[in-house]
Amino acid sequence: MCGIVGYAGPSAAAASSRPVDVALQGLARLEYRGYDSAGVAVIDEGAVRLTKRAGKLANLREALDGAAQTTGRVSIAHTRWATHGAPTDLNAHPHLGGRDGELAVVHNGIIENFASLRAELEGQGFPFLSETDSEAAAHLLAREMEAGGDLTEAMRRTAASLDGAFTLLAVHRDAPGTVVAARRNSPLVVGLGEGENFLGSDVAAFVDSTQEALEIGQDQVVTVTADDVRIIGFDGHEITDATRYTIEWDAAAAQKGGYDSFMAKEIHEQASAVADTLRGRLENGTLRLDEMDIDPAVLRSIDKIVVVACGTAANAGEVAKYAIEHWCRIPTEVELAHEFRYRDPVVTEKTLVVAISQSGETMDTLMAVRHAREQGAKVIALCNTRGSTIPREADAALYLHVGPEIAVASTKAYLGQIAACYLLGLFLAQVRGNLYPDEIAALMEDLAQIPDQIQQVLDSSAQVERLARDMEAATSVLFLGRHVGYPTAMEGALKLKEIAYIHAEGFAAGELKHGPIALVEEGQPVFVIVPSPNGRHSLHSKVVSNIQEVRARGARTLVIAEDGDDAVLPYADEVIRVPATRTLFAALLTVIPLQIFACELATAKGLDVDQPRNLAKSVTVE
Ligand code: F6R
Repeated sequence: MCGIVGYAGPSAAAASSRPVDVALQGLARLEYRGYDSAGVAVIDEGAVRLTKRAGKLANLREALDGAAQTTGRVSIAHTRWATHGAPTDLNAHPHLGGRDGELAVVHNGIIENFASLRAELEGQGFPFLSETDSEAAAHLLAREMEAGGDLTEAMRRTAASLDGAFTLLAVHRDAPGTVVAARRNSPLVVGLGEGENFLGSDVAAFVDSTQEALEIGQDQVVTVTADDVRIIGFDGHEITDATRYTIEWDAAAAQKGGYDSFMAKEIHEQASAVADTLRGRLENGTLRLDEMDIDPAVLRSIDKIVVVACGTAANAGEVAKYAIEHWCRIPTEVELAHEFRYRDPVVTEKTLVVAISQSGETMDTLMAVRHAREQGAKVIALCNTRGSTIPREADAALYLHVGPEIAVASTKAYLGQIAACYLLGLFLAQVRGNLYPDEIAALMEDLAQIPDQIQQVLDSSAQVERLARDMEAATSVLFLGRHVGYPTAMEGALKLKEIAYIHAEGFAAGELKHGPIALVEEGQPVFVIVPSPNGRHSLHSKVVSNIQEVRARGARTLVIAEDGDDAVLPYADEVIRVPATRTLFAALLTVIPLQIFACELATAKGLDVDQPRNLAKSVTVE
């Protein structure tokens, strides 16, 4: 939510466009974090030069056309997801600070004490131009500069007096080779280049220029020049042990690669994404999750699991509940992270909290993690983004390894999250002795087939694509499922809402007769996710009955069923086939036609699939 970029390069004899080029390239990579406005500041001829525009990055590019050259060596830039103040040119970042506009600041997060700071600073004559909370930080920094010390020291004092969540980047006309940044509860990484250095909300900001990155910890200030990076804590002590790492993917991974949208590309990467999540986990019949550094004794002692997550990640958590309870017999709850913290949950030292987050930065999930740890629970994070806050604050982390997810609507990370949940569930079963080694090996063997099966679903996407184009005018779509088909239904509905702006609801199929069936009228499209006919219980026949119930009331039934399941044929207006697998593992297959459906329908409507309205990837405010 909001993307920030910083650059510090060498002094040059002639004017150059490098500081602005790096800023624009970084913003293009970070635009998925917010796209209400964009802006860049450079130090040019001893003064701060700002260019900022409401709307998407294209507007900023247009404004900078022919004006990218600068005699300066630093830049800071921002792409905004509006919180305080409408998405206008004036509210766009960067913001000037000081009585004379001597510095510029970009900010990600929310400054909670901005109102009192603003009143105080206005009273002291600092000129406020915008409605944002961020401008208060810019003027506060200027006031601290007036009070004495360099930009780093002024930033340290500024950061220490702000409440809330923030990443701040600042440049000052009197420090033309320096970018100073501070972070609390909001992401920031440094990119280490050759004779130039970078800052970004995540590594995508600078992956075109370097693969080497440095983690910046909570409550730290970092000062970056072309050839130096210095970190101090908000209390002033020097930090010398920041973790350096090499980024595992390259710039090509963050490009569309011939697809119309990042979402389409990411959907089509899912076979390899899941293969990457599963890779190297089974050794001589034993499941090994070495990167998840947690004492097995702790895993043996737990008596309850609480999964905390939001949105799509929470749907993955629902799948985890079915798997973990079935394999491990540990009571498992799934809670939306933002509800968890405020309802005084029963969490003890014997509770394992599993936090699922693609970005690793979702504020609601982060706060749930902190709350759980305060109560003495152990926390395992299932995350995709290396160096992000949630895995760093958790007791242990298991990474998804699905590569960068750029589209706002999550697809391949969802599959990676589910696969990681299966790994965690099987690992718990192994450690606690709930399953025999040969049972785990057999399950892992079937799981290993899933990437090929995903590819089969992707290869037969033409039918769903046609269906989506035919349904371009749909105004309401329902989704039904039982068991893991229920979270799949929820996820199918979420995808359609968020990128195609169509009213969509996912229901547990059994719940239908308790109310929602009243929505069904002639022609109502209803997707039904049908479990394997070979599974336990009478799950399959129950869902087939549900198809009949909605069809009898005029619904158009769009049925996702296993290859060879002919029982659905008499009641399905359309049958979409997926390969046969275990009931639990079907969650990795049946959702794919629903992702394709949403993506294709939104494309047919001419919508921006990757950047749907009002949304941002990585929601770093509560
Ligand atoms: C929907 C979507 C969101 C995220 C949610 C949590 O397509 O992407 O619902 O799943 O905001 O994000 P992470 O996983 O980054 O914590």
